[in-house]
Amino acid sequence: MKILVLGNGAREHALCYAISKSPQTSGIFAIPGNYGMSKIAQCNKIDLSDFESIHIFCQKNQIELVVVGPEVPLVEGIVDFFINKNIKIFGPEKFAAQLEGSKGFMKDLCKEYNIPTAIYERFDNEESALTYLQKQKTPIVIKTDGLAAGKGVTVAEDPASAEQAVKEIFGGRFGNGMEVVIEEFMEGEEASYFICSDGKDFVSLVSAQDHKRIGEGDTGPNTGGMGAYSPAPIFTQEIQKQVDEKIIKPTLQAFQDKGCPYKGILYAGLMINNGIAKLVEYNIRFGDPECQVLMVRMKSDLVEMMLNSIDGTIKSTNLEWDDDHCATVVIASNGYPGKFEKKTIIKNLEELTNDNNFQVFHAATVYEDGEVKADGGRVLSITAKSGKLENTLDKIYNSISLIEWPQGYFRKDIGFKALKR
Ligand code: AMP
Ligand code: GLY
Repeated sequence: MKILVLGNGAREHALCYAISKSPQTSGIFAIPGNYGMSKIAQCNKIDLSDFESIHIFCQKNQIELVVVGPEVPLVEGIVDFFINKNIKIFGPEKFAAQLEGSKGFMKDLCKEYNIPTAIYERFDNEESALTYLQKQKTPIVIKTDGLAAGKGVTVAEDPASAEQAVKEIFGGRFGNGMEVVIEEFMEGEEASYFICSDGKDFVSLVSAQDHKRIGEGDTGPNTGGMGAYSPAPIFTQEIQKQVDEKIIKPTLQAFQDKGCPYKGILYAGLMINNGIAKLVEYNIRFGDPECQVLMVRMKSDLVEMMLNSIDGTIKSTNLEWDDDHCATVVIASNGYPGKFEKKTIIKNLEELTNDNNFQVFHAATVYEDGEVKADGGRVLSITAKSGKLENTLDKIYNSISLIEWPQGYFRKDIGFKALKR
């Protein structure tokens, strides 16, 4: 079948890579895609919010399955739009997508179903939020209710920065009319866990850990993610059982009760402390860069899993994973997540040979005047696997040293927590 992937990040490149390995795939298309993806998918410039044009494109190209990479089209209701159009689409409907689209919605649902998460309050005006803050201890966590491209959360170490974060949100930093969630700071180590549901049942994928901060030692501002590895040693079988019972199952039950079963990938961001896992956040899609390590570890047919999710037959999916340790290191434009130069030239990428154990996934790359150029913040995601995490990371860093791109920046300590164990 012909499959369309929506998105232009390294996550979507990794999805195309896994889709290309499926015996069911006869053609891959992407909107908008990137230079790296164009080697395996036919890329097309269409606005991701223009569902009508995406639908016309699907009809013209006999697309039978649409795979949505990023959260925004899901939150805007692209799955609802495609229902009744006779084209399959993988992901949750708009109502369920609120799990990521509104922090307040997600926290209220956790409260209603006793799902372990940080204690919180919701505010729709600055004055009451600031009054509440006066009685709280720091550190404390301030969150924008809506989507904010990973920038809407402040872990405030002192009252002044907490106040400032609240004022910025109500001042319109992330758009007008945004609400605020203030929540208790949770101690522990984070892990990402992914399941795929058909609305009723689910299959577990595997765990991963990502490095959200720009600086080594997990310091500095948050980014979309600077590297990841899988498996996550902290996510033991006992923890998985606990999370399945106390977090995943009640969540899927909640959506059944509300008459809108949750379909697609559900990504639980967890905080694990002394053997207890609590939910930090839900995402309604694969993580980026976690998807890159998952797709290189996955031995089964990704397309089959997606079709089973859509058709309500997820129980028949038998997922197999390589036992190897997989990691990815993101190379970003120097200055990211702040200002950076665009259209800088990347040389020698052809020196890196992709195979089953090594993949260069592209995010923001373009091909112009005979050169590969960087065209965004996160640009490349160098991914490998081997029997030992240490060897995997050596392979990745040795490969990066072959790339000639003076304006590129990457962290040299990806996986440090796992290596210390
Ligand atoms: P979120 O977008 O909700 O995942 O938040 C981004 C990051 O902020 C998380 O990955 C955590 O590192 C941190 N964070 C969010 N909420 C909390 C919390 N309640 N306690 C501690 N850290 C948090
Ligand atoms: N890696 C974090 C995210 O995709 O939201």
